[in-house]
This record gives sequence, C-alpha cells and structure tokens, in this order.
Amino acid sequence: MSPRDTEYAQERAELLRSARAYLEWEAELSTLGIPHATLARASATARATPPIAQPIVPVPHESHGAAHAREQQAPSPQPQAPSARPQAPNPQSQAPSPQQQGRDVPPTGVPAEKRARLAVLDQEARGCARCELAKGRTHTVFARGNPDSPIAFVGEGPGQEEDRAGSPFVGPAGQLLDKMVGAMGFARDDVYICNVVKCRPPGNRTPLPVEAQACAPYLLGQLEAVRPRIIVALGRCAAENMGLVGAGGWRGRWGKFQGVDVMPTYHPAFLLRSPEYKRPVWEDLQQVMARLKQPG
Ligand code: URA
Repeated sequence: MSPRDTEYAQERAELLRSARAYLEWEAELSTLGIPHATLARASATARATPPIAQPIVPVPHESHGAAHAREQQAPSPQPQAPSARPQAPNPQSQAPSPQQQGRDVPPTGVPAEKRARLAVLDQEARGCARCELAKGRTHTVFARGNPDSPIAFVGEGPGQEEDRAGSPFVGPAGQLLDKMVGAMGFARDDVYICNVVKCRPPGNRTPLPVEAQACAPYLLGQLEAVRPRIIVALGRCAAENMGLVGAGGWRGRWGKFQGVDVMPTYHPAFLLRSPEYKRPVWEDLQQVMARLKQPG
C-alpha cells in the first residue's frame, strides 16, 4: 500500500468510527429513524476496519446508586481557592498499581511542562491525607485522557470500579460517557476526564463539602495546567463546586470557572437511571461542539 492509500484507509476508518459512535449515541437517545439492521451493518463495517482510536475498556459493573438523587440535591458551599499545595503525605500511601502507572501516561505531544505539572499533582494526590476519604481508598483516581485537549469533563468522584482501577469513569457511567464523547466526534482518549474528589466516597455517596474543599487544590491545579477551552461539569456536584448552581436551574447554562467556559449537564450515572434526560444532555453537548468550532 502506498502512503497515500494508507492515509485514505486511515481517514475512512476514522470516518467510520465517528459515524458508528454517532449512530450508537442516537440509538441511545432512542429517537433514531434508522432501522436496526443499518446500525448493525455500520457497526460491523466499523469494527472490521483497523481501529485508530483506543477501544472502550469493558468493565463489569459499577454501583453508583445515589446518582439519581444527587442531581436533585441542595447546593453545597463553594470551594475555597487553593490555599497552599496539598501537604502531609499519607503514611499508608500506596505504591501506584500497574493500572495507575499506565493510566497517566499522556499521549505524545503534550508539552513537557504540562506533563510535569500534572505528574507532580498526581503524585501529591497519591500521598494525600487531607480528608477522611483517604482512609478508604484503594487507589487515588486522578485523571485519564489527553491533557492537551480543548475539552475537559469533570465528574463527581470515583466509584468502586474507579477506586479499583485508579482511573476515572471506567464503569457503566464511564461507558456511557465514552459514547457521548464519541458522538461529539472525539475518540475516547482525546478528551481530559477527572473528578471533584480523587478518592472514593464510601458507598458512592456525594462528596461532602469539606471533602470537595480538601481536594479543590488538585482539581484547580489540573484545570490550570490543562487549560481546556471548555469544561463540561458532569452532574450537580461538579456544577456546584464550580459555583454554577444558583436560583433557577443549572443544567445547560454556560458559566465560567477560573476564566474557562463551563457547560453544566447531567451526570451519566443519572442518565443510566433516567434515560429520558439524554436528549437535554445531547443538546448541551451540541452547544459545546458549536462553541468549540468558533475561533478560540
Ligand atoms: N462517577 C464519577 O463522577 N466519576 C467517576 O470517575 C465515576 C463515576
């Protein structure tokens, strides 16, 4: 195959991947007029084409039981500005698991300074004992994806699967998030994904304000280093902790956090329980895509 043929083949594979991701998301929305057979054919063709992007990681299950209720909860106080750097290494601090070691290897091309800054923060988080959540963790869960992405998704906090894997959004909610990301035209690891808190709250409960505040320096440091063009706040907890929940609703309204545009939308775990809200989330993501197309 000539280099040009290879290029065409790659382009075709990328187009098919995007088309497949979009069709899958439309099928999720249950509003698609495309017959099932067409979708199955498109999926089969896309699967037969050599993948360019990484496949979705299949993970058994997750138990984000409180997600539905979380979207309805009362606001919590705003996070304080990061005062100092996180201190006090946890004596029980764990060595990075193989997954953790692998998870934070950013794609090539990420500026060295950004890479180093994030690596330091990640390392500090691994030794953190700033709040009670440290005691119950298996792994800290810092981030996954591309720190050079124009878009960052911020969720609430790790669940059981994430705590085990040391990587955010790897359970069913993460798989739904991956579909949303795919439908936006990104490969799974093209975007940056992190959480308000880096350790799992017991029983997957919403992080307490004191926990979110203790963890705020990490989130702020991450977002400062990544400096995305747009942040998507996944769920009320993330929106609250970015100061975006006021009177009169919060979802689907542009806000700002640290000077960056933020679109708050429902959490994918909430969507798993209440799929009827997928449509408004898609509308929010379309707003995000439209803004990304505007000159930065
Ligand atoms: N829910 C979140 O908010 N974050 C995760 O990492 C997983 C589930």
